[in-house]
Amino acid sequence: MKIAILGAMVEEIEPLLEKVENIKKIEYAKNSYYEAVYKGVEVVIAYSKIGCVYSTLSATILIEHFKCDILLFSGVAGAINKELKIGDLIYAKRLCKHDLDITAFGHPPGFVPEGKVYVYSDKRLIEIAKRVASKKNIKLIGGTIATGDQFISSEEKKQEIAKKFEADAIEMEGYSVALVCDSFGVPFFILRAISDSANMDASFDFDKFLEKSAKISADFILEMVEEIKNSKDIFEQKG
Ligand code: ADE
Repeated sequence: MKIAILGAMVEEIEPLLEKVENIKKIEYAKNSYYEAVYKGVEVVIAYSKIGCVYSTLSATILIEHFKCDILLFSGVAGAINKELKIGDLIYAKRLCKHDLDITAFGHPPGFVPEGKVYVYSDKRLIEIAKRVASKKNIKLIGGTIATGDQFISSEEKKQEIAKKFEADAIEMEGYSVALVCDSFGVPFFILRAISDSANMDASFDFDKFLEKSAKISADFILEMVEEIKNSKDIFEQKG
């Protein structure tokens, strides 16, 4: 079994590269991919660059070129749900694309013909994450993650997205990665640690907490890799 671990920014994968072994760097399609081993499990680690276009490309490459069987995303997000504080972990139960808008033609926000507003995460990976959280006594919240090609730093915009999509957190890659994985039938899990509250302080908080929150997410993802290894029978059939 080969597990892809994708981030968007270098800060999101650095804590992973510090903990894996036998790293081999591969250049492919103008990006770097790191084949490595963690606790006996083959992993391929990469950061895509920010946004949906780059993350779509990287997720596709991890599946089609590197032949990964499972994809885990690790990174940071802005909080919408008031229960989420800086450093808290949220996983996506489902994801939507908040800036996909052809409402002018009478379609709902986030919907295009033959597409879907929400993509749902793999239930087995959610169970594994819950097990890790309970074993390690880590607070982990599941919710709706809204993705878009914008850094949100306004209370008004944040409330608008919250209302339209019942979103709990906001980021810039989750939905596109989820859509790629869903299309190829590859189980995926999108994890984010909160770096800011998508309000007027967001850019300041993001710079201040990016590294710390990215590490919280990366550490949890590595715990999940170990747990997946111990439960790998349930992934024998792609779901
Ligand atoms: N990722 C982390 N914080 C974010 C925000 N406020 N908006 C979009 N993506 C983010």
